[in-house]
Amino acid sequence: RSHNVDKLLLKNVSLIEFGRYRMKPWYFSPYPEDLVTGLECLFICEFCLKYVASLSCLKRHLVKCQRKHPPGREIYRNGSISFFEVDGRKDKEYVKNLCLLSKLFLDHKWVAYDSDIFLFYVMTMADNRGCHLVGYFSKVKESPENYNVACILTLPPYQRKGYGKLMIEFSYELSKREGKLGSPEKPLSDFGLLSYRSYWSQTVLDILCSYKKAVWMEVDDGDDGRVKISIEQICELTSIKKEDVISTLQNLNVLTYYQGGYVIVLAKEMVTKYEERKKAAAGELKLDPKCLYWTPKL
Ligand code: ACO
Ligand code: ZN
Repeated sequence: RSHNVDKLLLKNVSLIEFGRYRMKPWYFSPYPEDLVTGLECLFICEFCLKYVASLSCLKRHLVKCQRKHPPGREIYRNGSISFFEVDGRKDKEYVKNLCLLSKLFLDHKWVAYDSDIFLFYVMTMADNRGCHLVGYFSKVKESPENYNVACILTLPPYQRKGYGKLMIEFSYELSKREGKLGSPEKPLSDFGLLSYRSYWSQTVLDILCSYKKAVWMEVDDGDDGRVKISIEQICELTSIKKEDVISTLQNLNVLTYYQGGYVIVLAKEMVTKYEERKKAAAGELKLDPKCLYWTPKL
């Protein structure tokens, strides 16, 4: 089933107004049919996520609406960026509206059928008017498979600026504190896969290159390029699940068969390229684990 067919047949909301943005939805979302059918634009309160059919309704709502940030507990703050942990069992109305909003940009994932079992990590950017929703990811409270992300979304006006990777980094930071190896729920969307691939490669390269440097300095083993680190060590340092580390090493093309086993070999050019990219990326969004106030519930 192609995305286009889906869009043509099912898309039921033509436009939304959300804070200072207007967005064209990508997919169907189960907003009440009688409300959205034939409607030019759906107006959504950017703080409580309540939806109404006209600007005048929204204005009336905004007079009453006290909310200036998501519900739940603010567990991270670094500059203007915050994360709120929202419990699907406690803040049902907010979470239902969050799922409706995010379904507009998600092809198949739909979690509202039983939001009780999920936590939602909502990322916002603050200014003097309040904490504006940038994106979120959801996570099942108890996952036998150690999934650390169920669903992830950056709202379209904020996409391709590094917020997706910041949320992914955040999800692995939670896994580190839980002492678990995590992985996102499958299937991933095309953009989801691109974002994870990019995060995984950068994170694994960070480790390989710092190890490589240490080895070069210590024993000066010249140009042979081998990195003396095991896949298990990489997993432990990153909380990335073994399968994902292996597929990343394969994508990076650094696994070499040697004397009956695989070793990681880094070409010098790769390290140079990595260091150049690192310099260019100096201004990129980065998570600061010191700003995260969170311990796993036992
Ligand atoms: N085209 C090409 N590359 C892209 C695109 C795109 N449209 N979007 C992201 N990427 C790449 C970027 O180049 C970047 O890699 P780089 O840093 O090496 O250049 C990487 O993916 C991440 O980019 P970010 O800016 O950090 O990600 P963004 O904030 O745009 O969020 C996300 C990514 C969450 C997947 C976003 O595209 C989105 O919300 N999509 C709609 C919902 C969706 O598909 N969610 C994932 C479903 S799978 C799941 O939930 C487990
Ligand atoms: Zn509101």
